[in-house]
Amino acid sequence: MDGEFALDSDVLYLNHAAVAPWPRRTAAAVRTFAEQNVRRGSVDYAQWLKTERALRHRAQRLVNAGSADDIALVKNTSEGLSLVAYGLDWHDGDHIVSTNQEFPSNRIVWESLQGRGVALRCADLSGDDPEGAIIAAMDARTRLVSVSSVQYATGLRLDLVRLGTACRERGILFCVDAIQSLGALRFDAQACHADFVVADAHKWMLGPEGVALFFSRPQARAQLGLTQYGWHMVEHAGDFERAEWRPAASARRFEPGSPNMLGIHAMEASLSLLEEAGMENVEAGVLARTSRLIEAILAEPALELVTPREPARRAGIVTFRFRGRDGDFHAQLYRQLMEHGVMCAHRGGGIRYSPHFHTGTDIIDEALRLALELARSAG
Ligand SMILES: Cc1ncc(COP(=O)(O)O)c(C=O)c1O
Repeated sequence: MDGEFALDSDVLYLNHAAVAPWPRRTAAAVRTFAEQNVRRGSVDYAQWLKTERALRHRAQRLVNAGSADDIALVKNTSEGLSLVAYGLDWHDGDHIVSTNQEFPSNRIVWESLQGRGVALRCADLSGDDPEGAIIAAMDARTRLVSVSSVQYATGLRLDLVRLGTACRERGILFCVDAIQSLGALRFDAQACHADFVVADAHKWMLGPEGVALFFSRPQARAQLGLTQYGWHMVEHAGDFERAEWRPAASARRFEPGSPNMLGIHAMEASLSLLEEAGMENVEAGVLARTSRLIEAILAEPALELVTPREPARRAGIVTFRFRGRDGDFHAQLYRQLMEHGVMCAHRGGGIRYSPHFHTGTDIIDEALRLALELARSAG
């Protein structure tokens, strides 16, 4: 991957859990696409469609879907979750189970169903057995469980196989917001019995904002009513003279009109890099870096770790706090870190660092040193 990452030397980038920097090849793909548009318009549209197909296949391999037909390309994670929420045929008294640590995208959409008599139950993940808490919240009226694979603030990684198995045994649909793990960790939609998986490209997948993959298992897909219509979502898309239509059997049924070709070119390039690197190596690289950070934090008496310390609970996010310090202190520290070039986030009441597999260990060490130094000089 030499030369693929070219961040300026004054940027210590530890914010892949927010918006990631692109690899060079992604920028090159966008430049080439732009240049083609300028010089040839859509003369090469057939080639663009090949890139679109290639992206669906890359996405299929990334989530280990049974078929590329199970992948829709949508706008973002929130849109994918909304397709599930407004596609299911809810009955008064149905429940959805989620957690108390979710990013708003995976809460608001379910709360919005309240008017239809659908209740959201949020399991408390702060105990020793977060999956147990989620399973305990399920009952005979639970239709769907929707969780993030990795929690955005604490970095807690859930055991999706255990959760998906529990859902399958009870006939409950299982929906995963995978934006905080896809591209950082290996993922297996079949092994974890996921019915729906959605993630935008702009975090660990190293792509642009505004293009996302949405996986649906065929049997689950059949349960989703459609809420958007157009020429592109029908079985015989492109046959404009045809009067009769039916929704495409594939996940393309969720794509009503013209695709985001620009985003598709960028995302395809980004996923090609992850595939070349090999997701096993990417995952090992991410975990090595978060382990390095976690060990350094645990060795520093002034710090407390917000992220769970058990290796199986970690992914790419490490959040820490200064002991005895309040929210204002951390908000101020966050601002100072950003001024010193440390791209990080203020989450979970502390500082969130999120390195990717290509992040230099010197950057991690320096960012932690700076946090300690800035905190000390703050008194
Ligand atoms: C867990 C999680 N879900 C969803 C989102 C937002 O996704 P999108 O903008 O693709 O809808 C974020 C962004 O931080 C997130 O952390």
